[in-house]
Amino acid sequence: MPATPASTLAEPTTPKVDFAAATTPYAAYAGIDTLHSLLHPLSEEPAETSFIVATQVMELLFGLIRHEWTRAQQALRVDDLPTAMSALRRGLDAQDVLVTSWDLLASMTPVEFNSFRPVLGEASGFQSYTYLHLEFLLGNKHERLLRLYAGHPEVHADLRRTLEAPSLYDDALAYVERRGLDVSSPVGAWLAANADPKQGEVCALAELLMDVAERVTRWRQRHLASVKRCMGAKPGTGGSSGLSWLRHAAEQDVFPDLWAVRDAL
Ligand code: HEM
Repeated sequence: MPATPASTLAEPTTPKVDFAAATTPYAAYAGIDTLHSLLHPLSEEPAETSFIVATQVMELLFGLIRHEWTRAQQALRVDDLPTAMSALRRGLDAQDVLVTSWDLLASMTPVEFNSFRPVLGEASGFQSYTYLHLEFLLGNKHERLLRLYAGHPEVHADLRRTLEAPSLYDDALAYVERRGLDVSSPVGAWLAANADPKQGEVCALAELLMDVAERVTRWRQRHLASVKRCMGAKPGTGGSSGLSWLRHAAEQDVFPDLWAVRDAL
């Protein structure tokens, strides 16, 4: 008979509950007091709380995804494909949670949204610099948007660095070139990789980038659906036409070369 592990036999013990410090190690480690102090609804509408939490959760996830994509870029630059792929995979996990975060707003009605919309003033997610970082890392480098942060020199400088540096896709392509493929036509390079059994790793990287691309589009599509449901085709608080602007963004392919390859394979 196999021996029973000691942990199965042991009596359960309750975790420690006495701490000398003013806070628990848990709260101190993860900044819990600060975290909860950041929730300040400005209206009497209960749904505003979900809206703020959804925004804050998504902001944190934008930052986490930025962290993983940047790690992937650094690894690609030194030809460390396993590290690059694991960073991209961890980024995919965060992207999945990001897409699911829209569930926090799934049941918000137009009446509820309208009752706190005035407190937003001109505030809009369009002004999220963490999101703009992600757009730059994807290769969507709209320099004009740097103007949003003219009054915030640290953010402006950080974004400019990302704007001027290679995008995640640029780094992937540079890696592909060092793997011996001619990238003068990027689509041609990805096609050649697909035709060459020795380039399996390059193809695996391409498929991972497609996973990233699909999840970016999924987030945009769920944003679009939430906006359509909560406020229809009214103009946005950030000054855009709203739905039509977001629809245009959601229709843009992420990493268009990798989609174009599909036409020729
Ligand atoms: C249901 C509630 C929401 C509505 C009605 C809404 C509406 C809009 C609208 C109309 C725009 C276009 C720009 C403008 O004129 O404001 C926009 C952009 C944007 N929103 Fe939202 N939004 C909502 C929730 C969120 C949340 C929770 C986030 C998370 C941070 C977010 C992030 C963004 C981002 C990043 C953009 C820029 C997208 C781009 O440039 O393609 N939105 N939103």
